[in-house]
Amino acid sequence: MSKKVIFSGMQPSGVPHIGNYFGAIKNWADLQDDYNCLYCIVDLHAITVRQSPDELRKNTLNALALYIACGLDPDKNTIYVQSHYNGHSELSWLLSCFAYMGELGRMTQYKDKSANNPDNINLGLFAYPVLQAADILLFGSHLVPIGDDQKQHLELTRDIAIRFNNIYGDIFTIPEVFTPKTGARIKRLSDPEKKMSKSDGEAHYVGILDPADVVMKKFKRAVTDSDTEIRHDPENKAGVSSLLEIYALACGITLEASLAEFEGKQYGHLKTTVAQAVIDNVTSPIQAKYNELIKNPEHLQQIAKTNAEKAKNIGDKVLVKVKNAIGLI
Ligand code: TYM
Repeated sequence: MSKKVIFSGMQPSGVPHIGNYFGAIKNWADLQDDYNCLYCIVDLHAITVRQSPDELRKNTLNALALYIACGLDPDKNTIYVQSHYNGHSELSWLLSCFAYMGELGRMTQYKDKSANNPDNINLGLFAYPVLQAADILLFGSHLVPIGDDQKQHLELTRDIAIRFNNIYGDIFTIPEVFTPKTGARIKRLSDPEKKMSKSDGEAHYVGILDPADVVMKKFKRAVTDSDTEIRHDPENKAGVSSLLEIYALACGITLEASLAEFEGKQYGHLKTTVAQAVIDNVTSPIQAKYNELIKNPEHLQQIAKTNAEKAKNIGDKVLVKVKNAIGLI
Protein backbone atom coordinates (compact mmCIF):
# COMPACT_ATOMS: atom_id res chain seq x y z
CA MET A 1 0.00 0.00 0.00
CA SER A 2 1.33 3.44 -0.79
CA LYS A 3 2.07 5.79 2.07
CA LYS A 4 -0.45 8.41 3.15
CA VAL A 5 0.29 12.02 2.27
CA ILE A 6 1.26 14.83 4.64
CA PHE A 7 1.34 18.49 3.72
CA SER A 8 2.43 21.37 5.89
CA GLY A 9 4.06 24.76 5.48
CA MET A 10 5.58 27.76 7.14
CA GLN A 11 5.81 31.37 6.05
CA PRO A 12 9.28 32.73 5.28
CA SER A 13 8.64 35.85 7.31
CA GLY A 14 11.57 36.29 9.67
CA VAL A 15 13.39 33.55 11.50
CA PRO A 16 11.29 30.68 12.88
CA HIS A 17 10.97 30.50 16.66
CA ILE A 18 10.84 27.61 19.08
CA GLY A 19 7.02 27.69 18.80
CA ASN A 20 7.28 26.94 15.06
CA TYR A 21 9.79 24.25 15.88
CA PHE A 22 7.96 22.43 18.68
CA GLY A 23 4.50 23.05 17.25
CA ALA A 24 5.30 22.05 13.69
CA ILE A 25 8.77 21.39 12.22
CA LYS A 26 9.92 18.93 14.86
CA ASN A 27 6.80 16.84 14.27
CA TRP A 28 7.32 17.00 10.51
CA ALA A 29 10.71 15.43 11.02
CA ASP A 30 9.23 12.74 13.27
CA LEU A 31 6.63 11.84 10.64
CA GLN A 32 8.90 11.78 7.60
CA ASP A 33 9.56 8.03 7.55
CA ASP A 34 5.96 6.92 7.74
CA TYR A 35 4.32 9.30 5.27
CA ASN A 36 4.83 10.77 1.87
CA CYS A 37 5.56 14.32 3.00
CA LEU A 38 5.43 17.69 1.28
CA TYR A 39 6.84 20.55 3.33
CA CYS A 40 6.44 23.90 1.70
CA ILE A 41 7.84 27.38 2.25
CA VAL A 42 4.71 29.40 1.72
CA ASP A 43 6.04 32.65 0.27
CA LEU A 44 2.70 33.54 -1.36
CA HIS A 45 1.10 33.55 2.07
CA ALA A 46 3.89 35.74 3.44
CA ILE A 47 3.19 38.56 0.97
CA THR A 48 -0.28 39.15 2.42
CA VAL A 49 1.72 41.33 4.80
CA ARG A 50 4.16 43.78 3.17
CA GLN A 51 7.66 42.22 2.84
CA SER A 52 10.93 43.77 1.76
CA PRO A 53 11.95 41.95 -1.48
CA ASP A 54 15.54 41.40 -0.31
CA GLU A 55 14.43 40.13 3.08
CA LEU A 56 11.87 37.81 1.49
CA ARG A 57 14.47 36.33 -0.87
CA LYS A 58 16.88 35.82 2.00
CA ASN A 59 14.27 34.41 4.38
CA THR A 60 12.98 31.95 1.78
CA LEU A 61 16.37 30.38 1.18
CA ASN A 62 17.13 30.50 4.91
CA ALA A 63 13.87 28.67 5.60
CA LEU A 64 14.88 25.92 3.22
CA ALA A 65 18.24 25.55 4.98
CA LEU A 66 16.46 25.54 8.33
CA TYR A 67 14.00 22.85 7.30
CA ILE A 68 16.94 20.62 6.48
CA ALA A 69 18.90 21.66 9.57
CA CYS A 70 15.85 20.78 11.69
CA GLY A 71 16.05 17.23 10.41
CA LEU A 72 13.99 17.11 7.21
CA ASP A 73 15.75 14.97 4.66
CA PRO A 74 15.42 16.63 1.22
CA ASP A 75 15.65 13.25 -0.49
CA LYS A 76 12.82 11.75 1.56
CA ASN A 77 10.53 14.78 1.65
CA THR A 78 9.30 17.14 -1.01
CA ILE A 79 10.69 20.40 0.38
CA TYR A 80 9.99 23.31 -1.93
CA VAL A 81 8.84 26.89 -2.37
CA GLN A 82 5.13 27.53 -2.92
CA SER A 83 5.57 30.12 -5.71
CA HIS A 84 7.71 27.66 -7.72
CA TYR A 85 4.63 25.62 -8.52
CA ASN A 86 1.72 27.60 -9.95
CA GLY A 87 -0.78 24.85 -9.11
CA HIS A 88 -1.22 26.48 -5.69
CA SER A 89 -2.49 29.77 -7.15
CA GLU A 90 -4.58 28.04 -9.75
CA LEU A 91 -6.41 25.77 -7.33
CA SER A 92 -6.77 28.69 -4.94
CA TRP A 93 -8.83 30.57 -7.53
CA LEU A 94 -10.99 27.56 -8.25
CA LEU A 95 -11.63 26.99 -4.54
CA SER A 96 -12.37 30.66 -3.93
CA CYS A 97 -15.57 30.09 -5.91
CA PHE A 98 -16.57 27.58 -3.23
CA ALA A 99 -15.60 29.60 -0.16
CA TYR A 100 -18.05 32.03 1.45
CA MET A 101 -17.27 35.58 2.50
CA GLY A 102 -18.95 34.95 5.84
CA GLU A 103 -16.76 32.01 6.79
CA LEU A 104 -13.57 33.79 5.70
CA GLY A 105 -14.53 36.86 7.73
CA ARG A 106 -14.76 34.70 10.85
CA MET A 107 -11.13 33.56 10.70
CA THR A 108 -9.26 34.64 13.83
CA GLN A 109 -5.98 35.13 11.99
CA TYR A 110 -7.67 37.46 9.50
CA LYS A 111 -9.20 39.48 12.31
CA ASP A 112 -5.86 39.70 14.17
CA LYS A 113 -3.78 40.54 11.13
CA SER A 114 -6.19 43.15 9.84
CA ALA A 115 -6.27 44.74 13.30
CA ASN A 116 -2.44 44.83 13.29
CA ASN A 117 -2.18 46.16 9.73
CA PRO A 118 -5.11 48.59 9.37
CA ASP A 119 -3.45 50.28 6.37
CA ASN A 120 -3.14 47.09 4.38
CA ILE A 121 -6.26 44.96 4.75
CA ASN A 122 -5.87 43.46 1.30
CA LEU A 123 -7.86 40.87 -0.57
CA GLY A 124 -5.02 38.34 -0.23
CA LEU A 125 -5.19 38.57 3.55
CA PHE A 126 -8.89 37.82 3.39
CA ALA A 127 -8.47 34.96 0.90
CA TYR A 128 -5.40 33.58 2.71
CA PRO A 129 -7.19 30.46 4.08
CA VAL A 130 -8.39 29.56 0.58
CA LEU A 131 -4.78 29.44 -0.62
CA GLN A 132 -4.00 27.31 2.42
CA ALA A 133 -6.87 24.98 1.50
CA ALA A 134 -5.45 24.77 -2.02
CA ASP A 135 -1.99 23.86 -0.64
CA ILE A 136 -3.45 20.98 1.30
CA LEU A 137 -6.05 19.68 -1.16
CA LEU A 138 -3.73 19.88 -4.15
CA PHE A 139 -1.86 16.78 -3.06
CA GLY A 140 -4.66 14.62 -1.67
CA SER A 141 -3.19 15.20 1.79
CA HIS A 142 -4.44 12.93 4.56
CA LEU A 143 -2.74 14.63 7.49
CA VAL A 144 -1.69 18.20 8.27
CA PRO A 145 0.73 18.66 11.19
CA ILE A 146 0.27 22.18 12.56
CA GLY A 147 0.18 24.20 15.76
CA ASP A 148 -3.07 25.13 17.49
CA ASP A 149 -3.39 28.50 15.77
CA GLN A 150 -3.84 26.87 12.35
CA LYS A 151 -6.64 24.50 13.36
CA GLN A 152 -9.36 26.90 12.28
CA HIS A 153 -7.85 27.08 8.77
CA LEU A 154 -7.78 23.30 8.59
CA GLU A 155 -11.43 23.14 9.61
CA LEU A 156 -12.25 25.55 6.80
CA THR A 157 -10.22 23.46 4.37
CA ARG A 158 -12.28 20.44 5.31
CA ASP A 159 -15.53 22.38 4.91
CA ILE A 160 -14.55 23.58 1.44
CA ALA A 161 -13.45 20.09 0.38
CA ILE A 162 -16.64 18.47 1.67
CA ARG A 163 -18.75 21.17 -0.01
CA PHE A 164 -16.93 20.58 -3.32
CA ASN A 165 -17.23 16.80 -3.05
CA ASN A 166 -20.95 17.07 -2.31
CA ILE A 167 -21.40 18.85 -5.62
CA TYR A 168 -18.93 16.97 -7.85
CA GLY A 169 -18.27 13.58 -6.25
CA ASP A 170 -15.23 12.21 -4.53
CA ILE A 171 -12.55 14.57 -5.82
CA PHE A 172 -10.74 15.75 -2.70
CA THR A 173 -9.29 13.74 0.15
CA ILE A 174 -10.60 15.16 3.41
CA PRO A 175 -7.54 15.98 5.53
CA GLU A 176 -7.17 15.36 9.25
CA VAL A 177 -5.37 17.66 11.66
CA PHE A 178 -2.31 16.57 13.63
CA THR A 179 -1.33 18.67 16.63
CA PRO A 180 1.17 17.55 19.26
CA LYS A 181 -0.10 16.81 22.78
CA THR A 182 2.49 19.18 24.22
CA GLY A 183 3.84 22.09 22.19
CA ALA A 184 0.86 23.00 20.01
CA ARG A 185 0.80 26.47 21.53
CA ILE A 186 4.15 27.64 22.88
CA LYS A 187 3.66 30.81 24.90
CA ARG A 188 5.46 34.10 24.78
CA LEU A 189 8.11 34.19 27.50
CA SER A 190 7.35 37.84 28.26
CA ASP A 191 3.59 37.23 28.43
CA PRO A 192 2.70 33.57 28.93
CA GLU A 193 -1.00 34.20 28.41
CA LYS A 194 -0.27 34.81 24.71
CA LYS A 195 1.17 32.50 22.07
CA MET A 196 4.71 33.07 20.84
CA SER A 197 4.44 34.85 17.51
CA LYS A 198 6.88 36.20 14.94
CA SER A 199 4.82 39.34 14.47
CA ASP A 200 5.47 40.38 18.08
CA GLY A 201 9.10 41.21 17.35
CA GLU A 202 12.36 39.49 18.19
CA ALA A 203 12.42 40.44 21.85
CA HIS A 204 9.31 38.35 22.47
CA TYR A 205 10.28 35.09 20.84
CA VAL A 206 13.19 32.70 21.05
CA GLY A 207 14.44 32.45 17.48
CA ILE A 208 15.95 29.18 16.29
CA LEU A 209 18.98 31.18 15.18
CA ASP A 210 19.37 33.22 18.37
CA PRO A 211 22.91 32.94 19.79
CA ALA A 212 23.19 30.98 23.07
CA ASP A 213 23.65 34.09 25.24
CA VAL A 214 20.53 35.67 23.75
CA VAL A 215 18.49 32.51 24.37
CA MET A 216 19.73 32.45 27.97
CA LYS A 217 18.90 36.12 28.48
CA LYS A 218 15.39 35.71 27.10
CA PHE A 219 14.64 32.75 29.37
CA LYS A 220 16.09 34.52 32.41
CA ARG A 221 13.60 37.33 31.78
CA ALA A 222 10.68 34.92 31.39
CA VAL A 223 7.62 36.08 33.28
CA THR A 224 6.49 33.66 36.01
CA ASP A 225 4.44 34.60 39.09
CA SER A 226 4.85 35.85 42.64
CA ASP A 227 4.48 32.37 44.13
CA THR A 228 7.48 30.03 44.59
CA GLU A 229 6.09 26.57 43.86
CA ILE A 230 6.95 24.80 40.62
CA ARG A 231 3.96 22.86 39.36
CA HIS A 232 2.15 22.36 36.08
CA ASP A 233 -1.01 24.42 36.26
CA PRO A 234 -1.59 26.35 33.01
CA GLU A 235 -4.70 28.11 34.41
CA ASN A 236 -3.00 29.67 37.41
CA LYS A 237 0.71 29.39 36.64
CA ALA A 238 0.97 30.00 32.90
CA GLY A 239 4.66 31.01 32.88
CA VAL A 240 5.98 28.16 35.02
CA SER A 241 3.79 25.62 33.19
CA SER A 242 5.06 26.84 29.85
CA LEU A 243 8.70 26.49 30.99
CA LEU A 244 8.03 22.92 32.17
CA GLU A 245 6.51 22.12 28.79
CA ILE A 246 9.43 23.59 26.88
CA TYR A 247 11.84 21.57 29.01
CA ALA A 248 9.92 18.34 28.34
CA LEU A 249 9.95 19.08 24.61
CA ALA A 250 13.62 20.08 24.47
CA CYS A 251 14.70 16.95 26.37
CA GLY A 252 12.22 14.58 24.72
CA ILE A 253 10.74 13.57 28.09
CA THR A 254 7.23 13.53 29.51
CA LEU A 255 5.72 16.45 31.35
CA GLU A 256 5.74 14.34 34.53
CA ALA A 257 9.47 13.71 34.19
CA SER A 258 10.02 17.40 33.56
CA LEU A 259 8.09 18.32 36.68
CA ALA A 260 9.93 15.71 38.76
CA GLU A 261 13.20 17.37 37.81
CA PHE A 262 12.17 20.74 39.22
CA GLU A 263 9.93 19.99 42.18
CA GLY A 264 11.14 21.94 45.19
CA LYS A 265 13.62 23.98 43.12
CA GLN A 266 13.64 27.75 42.62
CA TYR A 267 12.33 29.67 39.63
CA GLY A 268 15.80 30.98 38.75
CA HIS A 269 17.10 27.43 38.46
CA LEU A 270 14.10 26.44 36.33
CA LYS A 271 14.68 29.29 33.88
CA THR A 272 18.40 28.71 33.36
CA THR A 273 18.04 24.92 33.13
CA VAL A 274 15.30 25.18 30.53
CA ALA A 275 17.36 27.72 28.57
CA GLN A 276 20.40 25.44 28.64
CA ALA A 277 18.33 22.46 27.44
CA VAL A 278 16.99 24.53 24.54
CA ILE A 279 20.51 25.67 23.66
CA ASP A 280 22.09 22.19 23.92
CA ASN A 281 19.33 20.15 22.32
CA VAL A 282 17.66 22.53 19.90
CA THR A 283 19.28 25.79 18.84
CA SER A 284 23.01 24.88 18.89
CA PRO A 285 22.78 21.62 16.90
CA ILE A 286 20.36 23.19 14.39
CA GLN A 287 22.60 26.24 13.98
CA ALA A 288 25.67 24.08 13.37
CA LYS A 289 23.93 22.31 10.46
CA TYR A 290 22.29 25.51 9.23
CA ASN A 291 25.61 27.38 9.07
CA GLU A 292 27.04 24.64 6.86
CA LEU A 293 24.03 24.51 4.52
CA ILE A 294 23.71 28.24 4.04
CA LYS A 295 27.26 28.38 2.67
CA ASN A 296 26.04 26.68 -0.47
CA PRO A 297 22.99 28.57 -1.82
CA GLU A 298 23.29 26.91 -5.25
CA HIS A 299 22.76 23.52 -3.66
CA LEU A 300 19.68 24.83 -1.82
CA GLN A 301 18.30 26.34 -5.05
CA GLN A 302 18.78 22.99 -6.74
CA ILE A 303 16.88 21.18 -3.98
CA ALA A 304 14.03 23.69 -4.28
CA LYS A 305 13.89 23.26 -8.04
CA THR A 306 13.93 19.46 -8.08
CA ASN A 307 11.33 19.26 -5.34
CA ALA A 308 9.00 21.80 -6.96
CA GLU A 309 8.97 19.49 -9.98
CA LYS A 310 8.10 16.56 -7.72
CA ALA A 311 5.25 18.61 -6.22
CA LYS A 312 4.01 19.52 -9.68
CA ASN A 313 3.91 15.87 -10.72
CA ILE A 314 1.61 15.07 -7.83
CA GLY A 315 -0.47 18.25 -7.83
CA ASP A 316 -1.18 18.45 -11.55
CA LYS A 317 -3.08 15.15 -11.42
CA VAL A 318 -5.46 16.50 -8.79
CA LEU A 319 -5.79 19.80 -10.66
CA VAL A 320 -6.90 17.98 -13.82
CA LYS A 321 -9.53 16.06 -11.86
CA VAL A 322 -10.83 19.29 -10.32
CA LYS A 323 -11.02 21.12 -13.65
CA ASN A 324 -12.77 18.21 -15.32
CA ALA A 325 -15.26 17.98 -12.47
CA ILE A 326 -16.11 21.67 -12.70
CA GLY A 327 -16.51 21.50 -16.48
CA LEU A 328 -13.50 23.46 -17.67
CA ILE A 329 -12.48 22.21 -21.12
P1 TYM B 1 3.17 29.96 10.34
O1 TYM B 1 4.23 30.26 9.35
O2 TYM B 1 2.60 31.09 11.14
O3 TYM B 1 3.69 28.89 11.38
C1 TYM B 1 4.25 27.65 10.98
C2 TYM B 1 3.80 26.55 11.92
O4 TYM B 1 4.19 26.87 13.27
C3 TYM B 1 3.05 26.74 14.12
N1 TYM B 1 3.17 27.72 15.22
C4 TYM B 1 3.19 27.40 16.52
N2 TYM B 1 3.13 26.21 17.14
C5 TYM B 1 3.19 26.22 18.49
N3 TYM B 1 3.32 27.35 19.24
C6 TYM B 1 3.37 28.57 18.66
N4 TYM B 1 3.50 29.65 19.40
C7 TYM B 1 3.31 28.63 17.23
N5 TYM B 1 3.36 29.64 16.33
C8 TYM B 1 3.27 29.07 15.10
C9 TYM B 1 1.86 27.05 13.23
O5 TYM B 1 0.66 26.53 13.78
C10 TYM B 1 2.28 26.38 11.95
O6 TYM B 1 1.95 25.01 11.98
N6 TYM B 1 -0.85 29.54 7.42
C11 TYM B 1 0.28 28.82 7.94
C12 TYM B 1 1.20 28.26 6.90
C13 TYM B 1 0.55 27.39 5.88
C14 TYM B 1 0.15 26.05 6.05
C15 TYM B 1 -0.40 25.65 4.81
C16 TYM B 1 0.22 25.17 7.13
C17 TYM B 1 0.22 27.75 4.61
N7 TYM B 1 -0.34 26.68 3.95
C18 TYM B 1 -0.91 24.38 4.64
C19 TYM B 1 -0.30 23.88 6.93
C20 TYM B 1 -0.85 23.49 5.71
C21 TYM B 1 1.08 29.77 8.80
O7 TYM B 1 1.00 30.95 8.68
O8 TYM B 1 1.98 29.16 9.65
